[in-house]
Amino acid sequence: MAKSHTVYLCRECGSTHERYMGRCPDCGTFNSLSEYKVKEDKPGRSAPRLSGEQSEAVPIGEIEAREEDRVQSGLGEVDRVLGGGLVPGSGILLSGEPGIGKSTLLLQVAQSVTSEQGGNQRFLYVTGEESAAQVRLRADRIGVSGDQLWLLSECDLEAIEAQVKKTSPAVVGIDSIQTVRWDDLPAGAGGVVQVREVTARLISLARQEGFALLLVGHVTKDGTVAGPRTLEHMVDGVLQFEGERGNALRILRGLKNRFGSTEEVGIFEMRADGLHEIDNPSGLLLSDRSTASPGSATAAILEGTRPLLIEVQALVSPAAHGSPARKCSGIDAARLSMLAAVLEKRLGIPLGGCDIHANVVGGVKLRGTAGDLALAAALLSSFHDRPLPRDLVFAGEVGLLGEVRPVPGTRQRLEESARLGFNIACVAPGSLEDSGPKGMKVHEVPELAQLARRFVD
Ligand code: TYD
Ligand code: MG
Repeated sequence: MAKSHTVYLCRECGSTHERYMGRCPDCGTFNSLSEYKVKEDKPGRSAPRLSGEQSEAVPIGEIEAREEDRVQSGLGEVDRVLGGGLVPGSGILLSGEPGIGKSTLLLQVAQSVTSEQGGNQRFLYVTGEESAAQVRLRADRIGVSGDQLWLLSECDLEAIEAQVKKTSPAVVGIDSIQTVRWDDLPAGAGGVVQVREVTARLISLARQEGFALLLVGHVTKDGTVAGPRTLEHMVDGVLQFEGERGNALRILRGLKNRFGSTEEVGIFEMRADGLHEIDNPSGLLLSDRSTASPGSATAAILEGTRPLLIEVQALVSPAAHGSPARKCSGIDAARLSMLAAVLEKRLGIPLGGCDIHANVVGGVKLRGTAGDLALAAALLSSFHDRPLPRDLVFAGEVGLLGEVRPVPGTRQRLEESARLGFNIACVAPGSLEDSGPKGMKVHEVPELAQLARRFVD
């Protein structure tokens, strides 16, 4: 019989400890440790080792690692987020809410890797969620085929490992990590312990065998990958797939990347025949601008390093009863409240007695502060019931005093705006070193008061 020892695992954060404690020292939760027996002849969650033998220290120059070794996923937008392709021996987590399109993306990566352009490399698609036949049907629907795309319908970790060794793929996709179970562990499939241990084992195998590993992980509404935040620490990269049901736009965001920047985003459109890369996402995000409506303002934001134009909408109406409502989607509620308070306090606009609804068109999220000016403009426009010019774009942060501040990359934002036919821009003073893109009229707005004046003259 294999020897075993006891570990205490935190159900909250997934950390393990050698002795029992009333409070997890890692996440601070009380009474969250449970006892587990771990067999000693199995590799545990210790850091994956390259070859099983003891390593020796070597000068960095002698380490072989070349950029060319990356496996191009073949999908430009995915490679861009990964910083040039998949690195052999690495593990990438592809996370997203159920139904967002993770399986579809994985299958399309498989298609590219196994295609002629992708170098005819072998891709092993392990499906635990759907049957092999279901995957085949989806593959037919989006036109994926090829001799090098192999399917395995399996949930058992040891069986998966055996098949990986047998088929020697360049890339292994696991859909999803939550369905894989390791029978030697006491916890059920999908639980924190299982997911952590299974991930550690698969990453260790990827390091040994030199394949790139793509793990699909479902996230819950609050954004954690089925409980264990710790998964994110174990993998080399985390790609988050975002979007809204009912809207075709999908954003692939690099949250963590050991081999490249985390700034990049990939943008796709979900169509009947799968995901399509789109070069001009702003077109998808701006509603029809042939008629100007009160409450709509265009913000020039940056997604990663990419300028993107989005439409911010606000609806300000007298509060029906009781305390006024503040509802928003795609916008940080705290930011909306803060802007409403600034407008009330600094400009005397009585928003305190108004319901405010605000949202961003197209299922994108307004992150950071660069959309402040647009949101303030949308609020003012709705309050006064006066539309803004259709070819006006905003880029600026608003401070608590009502002052407008420059945002990084203003030049890029305005160039993209000019390209899409926007002729007027409102920015903070000092945002640009010159007069801005050719043919564009750039207004410098030092304070919200100047912006508000437009609506009352
Ligand atoms: P799926 O990849 O199964 O999502 P996940 O693996 O993240 O749960 O795709 C989910 C949705 O995408 C599904 O509701 C249908 C839609 N879809 C399309 O619109 N076009 C397609 O070509 C495919 C394959 C799916
Ligand atoms: Mg799926």
